[in-house]
Amino acid sequence: MSFPENFLWGASSSSAQVEGGYSSDGKGLTIWDVKPLNPGTCSFHYASDFYHHYKEDIALMAEMGFKAYRMSISWARIMPEGEGNINQAGIDFYKNVFLECHKYGIEPIVTIFHFDLPLALQVKYGGWNNRSMIDAYVEYCRVLFENFKDDVKYWLTFNEQNMLIFFGAFDMIGGITKAQSLNTLYNQAHIQLVAQAKAIHLCHEMCPNSKIGPAPNLTTSYPKTSSPKDYLAAMNMDDLRNNFYTDALIFGRYPKSVYKYFEMNDVVLDVHEGDFECMGTCHPDFLGFNCYGNDTTEYLEYYKQDLSSLKNADNRDTSYLQALMSKPGIGRGVNNEYFKKSEIDGHIYDPYCIRVTARRLTERYHLPLIITENGYGRADILEDDGSVHDQYRIDHLREMIRQMEIGIEEGADIMGYCPWSALDLVSTREGISKRYGFIYVDRDEDDEKAKTSPMKRYKKDSFYWYKKVIETNGKELGE
Ligand code: BG6
Repeated sequence: MSFPENFLWGASSSSAQVEGGYSSDGKGLTIWDVKPLNPGTCSFHYASDFYHHYKEDIALMAEMGFKAYRMSISWARIMPEGEGNINQAGIDFYKNVFLECHKYGIEPIVTIFHFDLPLALQVKYGGWNNRSMIDAYVEYCRVLFENFKDDVKYWLTFNEQNMLIFFGAFDMIGGITKAQSLNTLYNQAHIQLVAQAKAIHLCHEMCPNSKIGPAPNLTTSYPKTSSPKDYLAAMNMDDLRNNFYTDALIFGRYPKSVYKYFEMNDVVLDVHEGDFECMGTCHPDFLGFNCYGNDTTEYLEYYKQDLSSLKNADNRDTSYLQALMSKPGIGRGVNNEYFKKSEIDGHIYDPYCIRVTARRLTERYHLPLIITENGYGRADILEDDGSVHDQYRIDHLREMIRQMEIGIEEGADIMGYCPWSALDLVSTREGISKRYGFIYVDRDEDDEKAKTSPMKRYKKDSFYWYKKVIETNGKELGE
């Protein structure tokens, strides 16, 4: 049993969550710089200060033996107003990051847009509701392709576009507290898909040596029972949550079951001439996807959903998530008694998620796959001697990798694995206390302290474990 030669072992991050330097050297503000925060959590202003520590961080990644580093570019660092002016200091920063990666033979896998929309575009266009965003995004892509075509081999168009929409009624990740109707959301999704298709066309034109694909968060829905109603609910949930986004960019159409959901919920898509043709002919070279755990779905009768009570809710509360995951007329997410429970901390997880979903995607799309996120976030303890004993994380990742390998043997065409995250960074909703990294970053939730903190880096136990995994191409996973 072994992983393919040249398998892209690495890890992930995103600009807003790792960089800091939120107003340094001409960077414009993003919606994440002003996003409402849950009580007690830090902002994204200083993050893990990768902006000043990138050399040290990339050297640590090289020490782990990374073949790839999945990262994102901050649109507002390149174009402070989102369009028009180009900030040379931003271009230089990413040039240096890529240079540093290549020095160690690390292939950057670069997300063009990972949630941190330039604030100026939000103000000017109201965000993705406006088709002018297509031109703004494509213009930004042109700047990236022009400047980095020789530095970047793998581009990702959008991070988790589907989560922005699926949870977007009260936005979990973008920081929107105003209710958005389903009609607004799915029209945004359509605009975002046309924008991505145009960017893929442009990349093929401008960067013949690069490859490009999307990076949604993909799962597979397990039916709660063997009742045909639950089975159909699971199929329809997959169409709504997953296939809607990938079918569009690969087949140039939306799954038919989604139109039924649209009809029930008064969603009417404003499709312009040529949209489907543009999507159907863009041909992504691969499919990146984030996969933390699959869903389990139970049929849910249609009723008119009122989510207004969720306004300003603390979105760390899981009932908030449950409510946003309920899709009347399709199904709702429920617990799965077959998932694994960690002996160390009781954490429940689905080690089969990548294996199952990657097999499903290979069969449906026949495209190579890169796992762009997967992982386990929780608090870690930095001991006095500088060690961090994160055996729970090792156990979690080991089970995922074990099943992923079997999935590859069964035919899943996976070419890389980049779990979340290379180093600790700020969680979307839970500050810096929820840690995912192989590298510990010494800071807490206090922004004032973070401003001047040296943010020293420490190697966690998982750092040494992952180094061994990569060195042996996945043969030695430990017990
Ligand atoms: C993914 C995102 O949804 O999950 C990341 O792409 C995010 O940006 C990660 O950080 C983990 O989620 P959270 O909410 O624990 O930070």
